[in-house]
Amino acid sequence: MSSKRAPFIVIEGLDRSGKTTQTSLLQSKLESAGIATKLMKFPDRTTTIGQMIDSYLKSTSELDDHVIHLLFSANRWELASTIESLLNEGTTVLCDRYAFSGIAFSASKIVASSSSSADPVVPKLPFEWCRAPDIGLPAPDVVLFLDIAPEQAKQRGGFGEERYEKEEMQARVRKLFERIGEETSSSSLNPSPSSSSSPTAAERLPQDGRNTLDWVIVDAGKDVESVSAELWDAVYPLARDGTNHPIGKLWA
Ligand code: TMP
Repeated sequence: MSSKRAPFIVIEGLDRSGKTTQTSLLQSKLESAGIATKLMKFPDRTTTIGQMIDSYLKSTSELDDHVIHLLFSANRWELASTIESLLNEGTTVLCDRYAFSGIAFSASKIVASSSSSADPVVPKLPFEWCRAPDIGLPAPDVVLFLDIAPEQAKQRGGFGEERYEKEEMQARVRKLFERIGEETSSSSLNPSPSSSSSPTAAERLPQDGRNTLDWVIVDAGKDVESVSAELWDAVYPLARDGTNHPIGKLWA
């Protein structure tokens, strides 16, 4: 991979969509194929900022919505240069959640009085405000979105343990992920949207060095092996071959 760098792959989804299982399965498969891979996860609860996030999510502390949003973003920025170094060294970065979760979860918080009445739903934090702090982060080459209905996610073990694991909130999060996927795929980050023949992520990348980001939707309601096989098909050629594209800047 001499003049090439390794790809940055992000897995996103609702809570209990199987991201953590799938991310570690994908890491094992990549490593078995001889591809050096670093598994990362946001929030990274090991840093000082991550510990503040952890206690907020476990409801052992309270924080203003703006503050927790900015902490999630800061938690990514503190690892941004590590991500870039790994990619340039030829290590594939596989990341469980990223800035897309940052927007989807924060922008899905609504003013309490609008949640159970016929009033219009009023977001506490505007979408654009939520996106702003993450502008300029290293951009992934591909985002694998594990799509699952909130009712199905709720049936899975552990749902409800943390702050955001409530069915109505997850339904709003899913809609926001949909919007982010659509906007990201049609933005300048992806000048070559996928064609009807469903090429793999590697095939979709244009060869002229432009900045790209592919948003791949995967049905996470299927069994673990089927989802894993689909993810593998989507990323293996890219991880095997690397990419000539410079590391992009998210939404910049
Ligand atoms: P986790 O279960 O993947 O560790 O994520 C913890 C929760 O944090 C999950 O409900 C999603 C949420 N979250 C945000 O609200 N903003 C963010 O930027 C990230 C990365 C996660």
